[in-house]
Amino acid sequence: MNEKTSTFESKILKTYSAETPTSAKLFQRSQTIFPSGVTHQSRDLKPHPIFVNRAEGSHKWDVDGRKYVDYFGGHGALILGHNHPVVQEAVREQVSRGVHYGASHELELEWAEVVKSVIPSAEKVRFTVTGTEATHLALRVARAYTGKAKVVRLATHFHGWHDHVAFGKDSVSKSPPPGILQEIVDNILVCPPGDISQLTRLCENRDDVAAVILEPTGATFGKVPLLPQFLSDVREWTSQRGIVLIFDEVISGFRCSLGGAQGVYGVTPDLTTLAKILGGGYPGAALVGRAEVMNVMDYQKKKTGTVSPLVTHYGTYNGGPVSASAGIATLNFLRSTDTIETANRNGARLRQEMNSIIRQLGCDWSVYGDFSAFHVFANPDHESIGPEDIMEGRIDSWKLRSSTSIDLQHKIRLGFLCGGVDIMPWPGGLVSGIHTQEDLAKTAEAFENTLKMLAEEGMLE
Ligand SMILES: Cc1ncc(COP(=O)(O)O)c(C=O)c1O
Repeated sequence: MNEKTSTFESKILKTYSAETPTSAKLFQRSQTIFPSGVTHQSRDLKPHPIFVNRAEGSHKWDVDGRKYVDYFGGHGALILGHNHPVVQEAVREQVSRGVHYGASHELELEWAEVVKSVIPSAEKVRFTVTGTEATHLALRVARAYTGKAKVVRLATHFHGWHDHVAFGKDSVSKSPPPGILQEIVDNILVCPPGDISQLTRLCENRDDVAAVILEPTGATFGKVPLLPQFLSDVREWTSQRGIVLIFDEVISGFRCSLGGAQGVYGVTPDLTTLAKILGGGYPGAALVGRAEVMNVMDYQKKKTGTVSPLVTHYGTYNGGPVSASAGIATLNFLRSTDTIETANRNGARLRQEMNSIIRQLGCDWSVYGDFSAFHVFANPDHESIGPEDIMEGRIDSWKLRSSTSIDLQHKIRLGFLCGGVDIMPWPGGLVSGIHTQEDLAKTAEAFENTLKMLAEEGMLE
């Protein structure tokens, strides 16, 4: 906490606490049950998170009846907003026909065919339930295909929470985080993002690299942007070396464009992980990719002469019919409308309006991003930096990843919540195709009031 403001003097905290008494009470109960009182780390918020009991379109309502413009968007899954009628109808129809057949069914086939028709790298498809499982499977498939152990990942990039990727997002250390084996850490090479020469140097004189995994928009949908040239360079270098290139398109898939970031940049990886929009708000994810690589999961294409394929893959809820129905409805709607372009336009307009507020208030922060994202950079060292500098890679990756202290991050979120807007903890958010101009104006106003309250608390100095 800034020394100038004690918890009790903070206008943001006082206003938030006064507006959300029922959430505060539920959080007391939560703390007796859930570690940290939450079920996902990014929902952690001091003094307490909001508890939500209803959502519709671009809005959600908390248990005190307050309405929020929503930029969490189901952690990025809801590009069509909450309860979109085409998704609702498909799900209702499917629920009445059964929710789990424990058998192959035509909807999973249709779901995979839609994916294959729009994602350039998708020759073969395997469904999982979460993005974390998809990246886990991607690494296993790449290691089995190449017979090699090491995986290169880019510092600051996020690929879920399984052991092979649960470090390197917020810092780099050779010691394993608690609960993760040293042997696993030793087999992951963490490389600074965006610099092909550092990547090639890291792998010089080694012949044990199975894969490179990265988010093609840059970490957390462009919070730490990557220049498209880097993608082409990595593609060329991995192809020459027989290294499997994995794009983690869990957020960017069906969001940058129907064909994901690979569709926009014209760079096709060997494997791609998809989730979020893929399931239309229901649990659904996939590993897709080049048939030759994916065939390590194929009984018919086994190389070992044993009964099993090289890589076995299970999962009770893989390709579930309800998720399939929501996913098909969502992807078909995106295919037949300009929702993605609208979301991208909404994102650009929001970034522009927030930056003009920053300038009006004489603050040195930036709001930046591409496609339907907005990211807030709090310029902790008060450098002469604008959104273009960030987008063109003229700023340190770690500084972008953590430009806000936890206290400031929470205060920004609380400030927005006081103004009726729920943002992601980055801080930033994902704009949908159904946010209205009124929603965007309300968001800009909430941002302005947040900055003013932070200035009063001495937190912009
Ligand atoms: C780029 C990326 N990869 C993987 C994941 C993990 O997905 P899930 O939360 O479905 O396990 C996420 C989740 O936010 C993500 O943003």
